Amino acid sequence: MLKHKLFPQLKLLCNQIGRPTQRLSQKSLVRQVHSNGNKLIFRQMFHNETYTFTYLLGCPVTKEAVIIDPVNDTVDRDVKYSTEMDLNLLYGLNTHVHADHVTGTGKLKERLPNFQSVISKVSGAKADKFVEHGDTLKFGKQVIECRATPGHTAGCMTYVLPDHAMAFTGDTLLIRACGRTDFQQGNSEKLYDSVHNQIFTLPEHYQLYPGHDYMGFSVTTVAEEKILNPRLTLSKEKFVQFMKDLNLAYPKLIDISVPANLKCGEISRQAMLGSEEILNK
Ligand SMILES: [Fe+2]
Repeated sequence: MLKHKLFPQLKLLCNQIGRPTQRLSQKSLVRQVHSNGNKLIFRQMFHNETYTFTYLLGCPVTKEAVIIDPVNDTVDRDVKYSTEMDLNLLYGLNTHVHADHVTGTGKLKERLPNFQSVISKVSGAKADKFVEHGDTLKFGKQVIECRATPGHTAGCMTYVLPDHAMAFTGDTLLIRACGRTDFQQGNSEKLYDSVHNQIFTLPEHYQLYPGHDYMGFSVTTVAEEKILNPRLTLSKEKFVQFMKDLNLAYPKLIDISVPANLKCGEISRQAMLGSEEILNK
């Protein structure tokens, strides 16, 4: 009791934990990044097995929302989370055809009747909506700009929210690193140009949210990566050689993930039968 008197916030928190069905006020969920008054609900979520980030973005006014790079294993969590926040998920945006995990957009479509999957047209994958460089997507009062950033794969897309000075870079740019370029039409020269022409040209204060992190980081900025990224600060020639010399292992799940992600997360029976063998490689 004494604690509650001394710490009214603690009492509020205890009440919320004790009554999970209680609706949180929208005001408490808002994170205002930009000074123009346009507010955003923003959550970053993590998939432990593949170090993948999933992002939930919502408009506090209309409650319309999108999810970026959902994973099929965590669809229950994502649906629960967005429902708790009264959000109406409109779109599931894939930054690219992933090789290391199966997208959650297929499962989300089964759970949410009005939900649409989105991916770049260049990716060649199945989806409800295809985007190209320069296209915009809207949810509530929010606008997402699509920037083609090929190199990790041919169809990689970076999603930018100018009102909130944020960009979601997928695997094109990771924190102090970048996605590999040795499979899925990967091309080091293209990745270098994509980062320098489409991401490093954003204002320096923009926050960059990657598709993965393996070091425990969660966010970076354009300014930081322009100075501190050990790969992308190299000359183009040295970068290409660096990527060539990486000699990375073959991704464990690529033979399941890529065919499934080309079909919006639909895992074929053949892939399921072969999965044990692949996982044991
Ligand atoms: Fe990837």
